[in-house]
Amino acid sequence: MVQKIQDVTVIGAGAMGSQIAMVSALAGFDTTVVDIAQESLDKAREELWYRVDRDVQKGRRAAEDVQAAKERLSFSQNLDSAVSTTDFVIEAAVEDLEIKRKIFEQLDQAAPAHAILSTNSSNIMSSQIADATTRPDKVCNMHFFNPALVMEGVEVVPHAGTSQETTAATISLIKNFGKQVIELKKEVPGFVANRIVNAIRVEALKLYDDGVADFADIDRASRTALRHPMGPFELMDLVGIDVAYLIRMAEYAQTGAEESKPHPVLAAKYETGDYGRKTGRGWYNYSS
Ligand code: 3HC
Repeated sequence: MVQKIQDVTVIGAGAMGSQIAMVSALAGFDTTVVDIAQESLDKAREELWYRVDRDVQKGRRAAEDVQAAKERLSFSQNLDSAVSTTDFVIEAAVEDLEIKRKIFEQLDQAAPAHAILSTNSSNIMSSQIADATTRPDKVCNMHFFNPALVMEGVEVVPHAGTSQETTAATISLIKNFGKQVIELKKEVPGFVANRIVNAIRVEALKLYDDGVADFADIDRASRTALRHPMGPFELMDLVGIDVAYLIRMAEYAQTGAEESKPHPVLAAKYETGDYGRKTGRGWYNYSS
């Protein structure tokens, strides 16, 4: 039987975590977003309120639905108390295996025994985290796409020890969020969508590095010749050049394969600290 979920907790108030939390609140779930930094929580609230208020102004959402969602969404720095009554956790913290394992250990101690503990990671697979808990059967990946308020697909990736009940409850939650389920039959680093994105990204970086075309023209090719919603360089700026780089590093740590390594151009861009939209500059300049 699929358990009833009412209380959802999201760990991490970055771009992904905050929007996932708002998706949950808009779908009627009592939702708390947790972050160690009050500044991140304040920024998340400000950006989310801007997004949903704009949706109301543009007639995309009803004012009363947005008001109710705002009231259902809490912001907390205290993980233990936030998860004490939770039914379902979505961890969206930094892409670092050791940090995630520590978070899952803490979640396991603080969350009720029935709670499912999922991670939004795309490269750190839940089998690498599950044994940090005493409930590996209740651990899986639930992977959203940026911007989570807009993108419809969500990947669900059980590991070999995830129970069928956990997978069924996760699928049911994705549907209740109004999203489309992309179900994987087995774990593979990057899952499905990011592997496709990465193949395009690697080719785009090679073309740029070889001097075949400027990055803006490569983006233009994707948008105007292929009708992709944005080009590979624009997409790196959207998801974050740091995220794009760290995802490759995480895969390289797992596979040790040369082709998993970030492309040198991506690594060099990462070193500059210009991570894209969030820092005001990446491949493009957003300061204006
Ligand atoms: N947050 C929330 N909503 C946003 C948004 C954001 N950051 N950016 C755009 N939107 C919404 C708004 O409703 C906006 O309408 P508004 O401006 O009237 O408020 C609407 O989308 C349209 O936005 P724009 O006119 O600025 O631009 P587009 O029509 O190009 O849409 C887009 C923006 C939805 C981001 C679209 O370009 C797109 O789909 N791009 C591809 C995104 C993608 O591939 N995401 C997956 C990345 S991989 C990933 O996330 C995996 C992870 O593991 C890294």
